[in-house]
Amino acid sequence: MVNTLPPSTSFESKPGVKSPIKETVLTPRFYTTNFDTVAGLDLSAQEAELQTLLEEMRADYNRHHFVRGEEFEQSWEHIDSYARQAFIEYLERSCISEFSGFLLFKELSRKLKQRNPLLSEIFNFMARDEARHAGFLNKAMGDFKLSLDLADVTKTRTYTFFPIEWVIYSVYLSEKIGYWRYIIIYRHLEKHPENQFYPIFRYFESWCQDENRHGDIFKALLRSQPKLWNNSKARLLSRFFLLSVFATHTLTVHERSNFYKSLGLDATEFDRQVVRETNQTAGRAFPVMLNTDHPKFFSRLHQCSDYNLKMVEIERSSQPKVVKLVRKLPLIGAIIWNLLLLYLIKPIDTESLRGTVR
Ligand SMILES: [Fe+2]
Ligand SMILES: [Fe+2]
Repeated sequence: MVNTLPPSTSFESKPGVKSPIKETVLTPRFYTTNFDTVAGLDLSAQEAELQTLLEEMRADYNRHHFVRGEEFEQSWEHIDSYARQAFIEYLERSCISEFSGFLLFKELSRKLKQRNPLLSEIFNFMARDEARHAGFLNKAMGDFKLSLDLADVTKTRTYTFFPIEWVIYSVYLSEKIGYWRYIIIYRHLEKHPENQFYPIFRYFESWCQDENRHGDIFKALLRSQPKLWNNSKARLLSRFFLLSVFATHTLTVHERSNFYKSLGLDATEFDRQVVRETNQTAGRAFPVMLNTDHPKFFSRLHQCSDYNLKMVEIERSSQPKVVKLVRKLPLIGAIIWNLLLLYLIKPIDTESLRGTVR
């Protein structure tokens, strides 16, 4: 699918081709879905909204945004090795995640071409944006003499099948959490330019508007399907996806706290802000949002993160695999237990807040 990229998008490998990070439950996934079901979706309830969003995507506000300026043409040797390693991991994870979006949207666009031209065109524009984002991140990795062979990643990664309903919940959340992550870093560096150690962060303001629009498209898809928000299964699923996305965020942000430190950000505070904002935003699309003000909400998430950091340490040790597993088991159990308790915290019913019976 990579050869369907626009010619201007460069994904070619460079001399320092980096082998992708080991796949774990926390690494960004590649998804596939039932394309026939997507083609058969009745979108009439949100058709006008989708048409408006299609016009916005067509306008392509960021057409000239992802062009590397002169500020990239310098040596980055001065970034100390601690921050450098954390930053490279951040770039890689972001690149994989953007590229995973590109693959899914491109495939959706291709499969829907004959059967749902409106959605097909929208997904094609979304794939265009994600290809730009992934390409831009991969070029940034090139500045550190590394790059990802994305064509190879496409072939070697495992694809997880998600029914379209799950794809809608999870992509909506990943776009909106992406928006908040980019804009919070951008606003922080606007106030603290002394921490801007690499120019990519200057691009985040317009970049995150792409993610915001992508999220709005998935919100329209979600609201076009009443069964995704007007019943108890939808409420249970929404809680599940909100918690999974937030827990993954908390764990990965704390695993890379060095990166946030190098930006002058406190990882815990950054994570808390991203989770709170994304939860509020999701309340406009989902039938429930999580009660992040519950006294145990963040403390339990942080407990999970502490157990996860212990597991990372065990994984890095030189002990035999079986010893590592035995040491990790009680930690895995403790994480699952805490997640279960988090899941059981009573959520906030957003439909009644909206007062809508649609
Ligand atoms: Fe993106
Ligand atoms: Fe996106």
